[in-house]
Amino acid sequence: MVTDKLNPDVERVLLSEEEISNIVDRLSKQITEDYKDSKNHLVLVCILKGSILFFSDLIRKIDLPAQIECMKVSSYGAGSVSSGKINVMLDFNRKDIADCDLLVIEDIVDSGNTLYHLTRYLKDKGAASVKTCTLLDKPDRRVVDYTPDYVGTEIPDEFVIGYGLDYAEAYRTLPYVGILKRSVYSE
Ligand code: PRP
Repeated sequence: MVTDKLNPDVERVLLSEEEISNIVDRLSKQITEDYKDSKNHLVLVCILKGSILFFSDLIRKIDLPAQIECMKVSSYGAGSVSSGKINVMLDFNRKDIADCDLLVIEDIVDSGNTLYHLTRYLKDKGAASVKTCTLLDKPDRRVVDYTPDYVGTEIPDEFVIGYGLDYAEAYRTLPYVGILKRSVYSE
């Protein structure tokens, strides 16, 4: 059954399914063009869990031979005792990535800590190249100087959920990106 009803916890839709689809089309074309002449293996890296929907939509549209890997990481954030490191909870296991172009695919860049440290971690592993692609970018929230290579769209500093993004693990399966009602998380 198809329903157009908005989830009652959503204040408003920030990115509709159509807008997401247009972003996916644009980014996949750009990525295909940028990597088409590379002699390396293209490895698309899904950062669990938030990027799972964006990843699965985007990789189908990248018109190149590619492999996939998944990682789960968390940054400790600025100001915490462990600042400067990421916690790698799930890594991929490849002996040699010297002939691999890694493209890390994220749902959102917020403080920038995750991608800042993750790209360094992957370069230290010896990848031929490491680039990043994010659906959403919140530049107003940046605490480290980090710019993703591919950005779907910049968004304001609102609490966004849906299309992979969660609040307390809920809402990830919504097909759109919405702004969560303040009453839901300030109760
Ligand atoms: C989110 C998002 C990024 C990170 C961005 O992941 O998917 O990985 O936070 O934030 P940053 O730029 O401030 O580092 P989260 O830790 O919420 O995990 P999830 O994807 O499993 O929801």
